[in-house]
Order: sequence, then structure tokens, then C-alpha cells
Amino acid sequence: MRYSRRGIVALGLAAALFALPACSSSANDDGGGSSGSSDSEVEVFSWWAGPGEKEGLDAMIADFTKKNSGIKFNNAAVAGGAGTNAKTVLATRLQAKNPPDSYQVHAGLELASDIQAGYVEDITYLYDQQGWKEKFPKGLIDAITVDGKIYSVPVNIHRSNLLWFNPATLQKAGIAAAPKTWDEFLTQAATLKSKNITALSIGPGWTQEHLLENVLLGELGTDKYTGLWNGSTDWKSAEVTAALTKYTKILGFSDLKSAAADWQPALDKVVDGTAAYNVMGDWADGYLKGAKALEFKTGYDVVATPGSEGVYNFLSDSFTLPVGAPHKGAAEKWLVECGSTEGQDAFNPQKGSVPARTDADKSKYTGYLAAALAEWQNPSTKIVGSLAHGVVANNAFKGEIDTALQIFVQDSNVAKFADAVAKAYAANK
Ligand code: GAL
Repeated sequence: MRYSRRGIVALGLAAALFALPACSSSANDDGGGSSGSSDSEVEVFSWWAGPGEKEGLDAMIADFTKKNSGIKFNNAAVAGGAGTNAKTVLATRLQAKNPPDSYQVHAGLELASDIQAGYVEDITYLYDQQGWKEKFPKGLIDAITVDGKIYSVPVNIHRSNLLWFNPATLQKAGIAAAPKTWDEFLTQAATLKSKNITALSIGPGWTQEHLLENVLLGELGTDKYTGLWNGSTDWKSAEVTAALTKYTKILGFSDLKSAAADWQPALDKVVDGTAAYNVMGDWADGYLKGAKALEFKTGYDVVATPGSEGVYNFLSDSFTLPVGAPHKGAAEKWLVECGSTEGQDAFNPQKGSVPARTDADKSKYTGYLAAALAEWQNPSTKIVGSLAHGVVANNAFKGEIDTALQIFVQDSNVAKFADAVAKAYAANK
């Protein structure tokens, strides 16, 4: 089955589509499918164990525990940015039919293989019970729906295409403003190098992919970027070749040879002024204002990655009900928490994301997040989906891109990389 034809295809869309609630029925049923069991514990699996991620999860757990005092919360988070470690552990557990009660997965094509493998329950009944079809944007519901069935509960919307910096470092280097194009970035990078400042800090492989998607977005624009994931943009075309060549130049001004072990230490280099910029999703806001206790605008600042102003390269964290969850009743209560306004408004202000629900309490979103929420809800904002965080490529296609990219960042062979990705698309579409 070509999941992408039936599930998320809402990419390269105006935000208006995301802003509208799904127009399906609001009929409530009596919760058929709920086990109704009074489970006394719940095991929730995620990768939110590190600074900047743990705080948001803890806030939602606190709200859950307040409402469900009889349920012991078993936090099974496995540390490591973008879930690289967690996903390996989870795959082993799912294969062994030893699932947690709920696990984190990105909305979009990352879910497809779990649905096909029969690992996750259809939870449309929870949407009917809770009236959620009217509370989440239609485009987001599409991203978690296959053949009319909904498989997870989105808790947030993150933005991938962001360039973080320390205003004091730019000032010290005599740079008036963050770059608006990748060419301008390269010009600034040469200046920064002459002053012994790393232009761009980088971390492990997934952060290199996160950079890649945003160089492609900035250089190709939204339509052609989206075409990379639906077959309408040729990976071997002259313009993609040029964008990939630019990526190698940008990476040449990074600290790839001494890359940080994860996204937080890569951002630390921006904080301490040894690096000028870092491309990262807005979980960086949670980290910088939380663990680092910095003030937005003075201690840290952010712009859209070069060439992507007015675009939201989105991803969404969601939670599932695995088939065979040992504590199904408690898991359903956790999912209700994830989908609630209180849960989302406890989690997102700390996590550095905006709520997935359209009716959250705006006053809770300040600093960077006030601007993010306004941009997300602005009907003229264009929306595309993230590669590195599970929206636009299924796991098989993404896995082959991950492998090819490991080689590409070392050998800078554009033609070889483009050929590998084009073949991977054809094999896995
Ligand atoms: C993403 C995830 C975010 C954040 C980030 C860094 O994949 O969606 O919520 O956790 O990884 O770990």
C-alpha cells in the first residue's frame, strides 16, 4: 500500500488547511473499544529524557497524575535526540510483542510501517468520544489517518526550519543581522572564520539531515522541496545538484570534524560564542530558556533558516495505543491527557512547541512561542513537512537516505548521493 497517497499528502499547503478543524462528523459514541479497565499503572515510552525535553514531559505527567491519582506513571524515556536510540529499543520491543502502554511517534509517514505491521490500534473511537476531530487541524488529522482510521494523538507542532544565534556573537563579529539566503550565510561564514568563530555548529547524523532538509527547502522553495518526497522533483536535476553542492559548502564552514554528541551540546557552542549559528527545531527554545535560563532576544535569538521565511517546516509528536498494551485502560487515559487542552498547555510552553489543538490558551505562549503560534495560525504561512522527523518519508526510504548521507557528508560526492536517494525513492515509494 502506498501510505502517502492515503495518509499525509497535505504538504506544501497554506496554513489555512491546517487551521480548519476536520469537517467530519462530531458524533459522540459511547466509547466502544475502550477496555474500561481500572489499570493501576501506565508505561509511556518516549525519547524525552534530556534537558529541554524532560521538563515538558514532566509537566504533562504532573497534570496526568493530578487527574489520575490511582495510576502509577512509569516513564520509559530513552535518552538521545530525535529518538535515534529510543527507536532501536522500541523496535525490538514491538517485534518481541512486548509493547509499552503508549509510545511516541511522529505524525506522518513514520507511522506507516507500524500501522502496516499491526503494532498500533485504531483509536478513532477516542476522537469521537473526546470530540477531537473538531479540535485538531484537518491537515494534521490527515497526517495520522490511514484508510479512514486514526492511529495516534498529536501533542504538539514543532518547527524545523530555524536558525538560532547569540546576538552578542554577531555583534562581536560585526554582523548586523542573521542571513536571509544561504549565499549570504556563506559570505558571513567567511567573515566568521577569519575571526576564529565557527559559522555553524553541528551534531550527530540526524542533525546533519535536519540541516540538509532546510538547505534544500531554502534553495528549492516549497513546491520543489515537497516534490522531493512525492516524486515530482528529480533528485538528479540541475537545481537539486546545485542545492546539494551548496550543502557541502555550508557543511565546510561547520565543526563537522568535532561534531557535538547531541543537539544540546551543539547549541552550547552558540551559547558560549565559539559558534555563531545552529540550525535546529524549536525544542531549542525549551532548552535555551529552560536549562540554560537565557532571555529570548538578548541571550538567544532566532530567524527562519535562510530562504524559508513565511514557511513552517513542521513535525508533530504524537502518542499511540500499541496492540497488546498491558494496561489499555490507563493508556487511554494517557492519550486523553495528550489530547487535552490542559495537557498540551502544560507540555508545550516548556517544550518549545505550539499546541496541536486549535483552542489552546494563547496567553501561555510567550517569547519565541508567541511569534511561533501567530505564524502557525497565519493563513498565509506555507506548510511543508520534515524529513529528519518523520513527516515526509517512510522509514524504509528515510533509512536509505540516512545511510547515504553518512557517506555524503564525508565524500561530498553530490552525484553519488543524488543517485542513491533517487533509487531509494523508487524502491520504497
Ligand atoms: C524530534 C522530536 C522533538 C525533539 C527532538 C530532539 O524528533 O520530535 O520533540 O524531541 O527530536 O530530540
